[in-house]
Amino acid sequence: MDASKPAKAVKDVVEAAAGKVADALTSDVPGAPGSAPPTVEEPTTPHDPLPPKKEQGAPETRTPTGAATGAPTTANGQQGAFLTTSQGARLRDTDHSLKAGPRGPVLLQDHHLREKITHFDHERIPERVVHARGAGAHGVFEAYGKAEGVTKAGFLAKGRTTNVFVRFSTVLGSRGSADTVRDTRGFATKFYTDEGTFDLVANNMPVFFIQDAIKFPDIIHAGKPHPDREIPQAQSAHDTFWDFVSLHTEAQHHTMWNMSDRGIPRSYRMMEGFGVHTFRLVNAAGETALAKFHWKPKLGVHSLTWEEAQLLGGVDPDFHRRDLYDAIEAGAFPEWELGLQVFPDTPEETFAGIDLLDPTKIVPEELAPVQPVGKLTLNRTPTNFFAETEQVAFHVGHLPPGIDVTNDPLLQGRLFSYVDTQLTRLGGPNFSQVPINRPHAPVNDMLRDGFHQQAVHAGVAPYRPNSLDGGNPFPAGDTDGAFVDVPVTVTEAPKVRANPASFDDHYSQVRLFWLSMSPVEKEHIVRAYTFELGMCYHQAIRERQLQCLANIDPVLCAEVATGLGLPAPEPTVPLVDPAPSPALSQVGRQWPADGRTMGIVVDPTAGLDDVDEVRRAVFAAGMVPLLVAPHGGLVGGLPVQRTFATGRSVEFDVLLLAGAPAPAPDASPARDAKAGAADSAAVDPRVLLLVDECWRHAKAIGAWGAGVDVLRQAGVAGTPGVVTGGSGAEVLTAVQQLLAAHRVWERFPASVA
Ligand code: HEM
Repeated sequence: MDASKPAKAVKDVVEAAAGKVADALTSDVPGAPGSAPPTVEEPTTPHDPLPPKKEQGAPETRTPTGAATGAPTTANGQQGAFLTTSQGARLRDTDHSLKAGPRGPVLLQDHHLREKITHFDHERIPERVVHARGAGAHGVFEAYGKAEGVTKAGFLAKGRTTNVFVRFSTVLGSRGSADTVRDTRGFATKFYTDEGTFDLVANNMPVFFIQDAIKFPDIIHAGKPHPDREIPQAQSAHDTFWDFVSLHTEAQHHTMWNMSDRGIPRSYRMMEGFGVHTFRLVNAAGETALAKFHWKPKLGVHSLTWEEAQLLGGVDPDFHRRDLYDAIEAGAFPEWELGLQVFPDTPEETFAGIDLLDPTKIVPEELAPVQPVGKLTLNRTPTNFFAETEQVAFHVGHLPPGIDVTNDPLLQGRLFSYVDTQLTRLGGPNFSQVPINRPHAPVNDMLRDGFHQQAVHAGVAPYRPNSLDGGNPFPAGDTDGAFVDVPVTVTEAPKVRANPASFDDHYSQVRLFWLSMSPVEKEHIVRAYTFELGMCYHQAIRERQLQCLANIDPVLCAEVATGLGLPAPEPTVPLVDPAPSPALSQVGRQWPADGRTMGIVVDPTAGLDDVDEVRRAVFAAGMVPLLVAPHGGLVGGLPVQRTFATGRSVEFDVLLLAGAPAPAPDASPARDAKAGAADSAAVDPRVLLLVDECWRHAKAIGAWGAGVDVLRQAGVAGTPGVVTGGSGAEVLTAVQQLLAAHRVWERFPASVA
């Protein structure tokens, strides 16, 4: 008998089924890796490279000097049907080295082997010294025109649209670290304006650890892993970090933000962004104003719970980048409004007694409202991570006419640091010619040569003045749209290494932040400090930081001290009582739920009441439903995205129970891998664990039909934010309302008032 025949028949059937499932999966749920579903057989018919996925974008095809080429963005990538060398010579074989006989040694003349291995050997470049871990997206910025009175920057003129590239990041971790660690997030935006590139290199927190850039190496060395053991990775919960910030008390405001829920965002899409520094704006009449930049997310500011953040570090370390890409792929385009806080440009450079040059201070929005001046929409994911997200180079000195810097000593140091580090990271001085960094404005500089020069400069006179190139390039005149440094008066003063006295207040605004928090947010802050200090080895460091907490608030200090088993010290500075700023709190409002994920647990043996209808309604509401079942494949004709073995509660914003599945065959062996599930003869323990974790993490839970039994068995029926109903549609409506507030905090009375 030909043994291959039955095997082939089975293979055909499996392939057909796999093709069907694959189509069903890729047609609606985001996350397909390629633009076309793969075949089981290796393709052998030559054809051009597949197009990028529909949601992918790429840098515009500009010349190194900013001219539009008109070529499609696919021209950035590989061309043609056949494998070639880097020089375009077609290759017949890339799987075997050229050898002296099949069993012989490899020949030095194998230029293809050498090219392939040599290039591979040099694929890595240094990761960013900070903000190494990040994810980017392309988008567009549309100006409302409301900033025209204060700045002549053309991209802020009414109706103007400007292409942008945004990179979000964490600060401390290496390139491969987890997304969900407790840390500050970077929010860097490159506006490709026709007056030159503007980089708004922002964070998701409005203050910084240090007032003077000369301390940047100190704070980063303290936060990075210890130099001897290189642990812990991407964490601030260790001795060197708290050693530094407890001695260097100007960091206390920023550490308070990090210990708050802002340090563990739910999504990049749900973060505010802050330019931190005060900038100087100049309008068409030459009048100046001081201003701070803000990004306000359409979805509101939301966070993970600490346990979710920790679980995600293991279950899905790519949680934030996946969320960003999936949302864009699903058409739930992330949006932010750009806002300005504008202050008069007075000689004191203060507003309401707040020093505008001190980057450890905010100006509460209640004192200076954030005025929206435009909208950012991220609508395309990168085609190639390295080419775009890794090679993008931001710099606070990339400024268009109309926006200038102030003397904030942190900003002044940043003006030096970014280009300096990029010289090393991107291997030479020509990184502005890398496609993602190419300006969308004509470039006519006198910078020449250097590694990887991509421009072919004509002319003989890259110097000024010249006559040999007819005097070109010429300085732009008053009416030619030049960037003119604002002629700010610098008062005569002794040359000193010192800060103004106004920089000495390190506590009053930290207290303002604490007093502005709701009880549940305060409780999270207490738990975060207690965890982080609890992870320190040395008691002296805990005691020193407790003293800082005493100088912020006695309740905060006492709660953390109790957790650490230490006495709470008395404050050593007078405690002021600033008016709270409600704008700082994240809770208590309602927000859209675009791109959120709903887990829907189904029981394949008991019918799928309403599931298809609910699934469609979830898609229609701009969210993503993921079916969770005992096995993969199709259930009732619907594609299963997660099994009880692969799904985990932390990827769902809401859990729906459409059935009460009995323990699946793999339930028991999996139990120790998902410890904590209650023992139950009736329901798969992993489903009970899903319910338990979603409940603990204050997520909305809904059930109908047999699913209601699961709630009873999990012991959560009738508790706040757990809804049941006669139909899937009814339950979906109820959980959507709960989701608008992000979490059901009513479930847990806060222990900190
Ligand atoms: C308000 C304070 C600061 C903010 C908001 C900020 C923000 C950022 C952001 C968002 C990035 C990531 C850019 C990207 O995605 O590629 C970044 C990178 C970086 N920052 Fe800062 N930063 C601050 C202070 C500083 C200071 C004081 C220094 C140095 C004196 C500094 C040096 C760097 C360096 C060297 C990088 C890596 C850049 C690269 O390799 O391309 N930053 N910063």
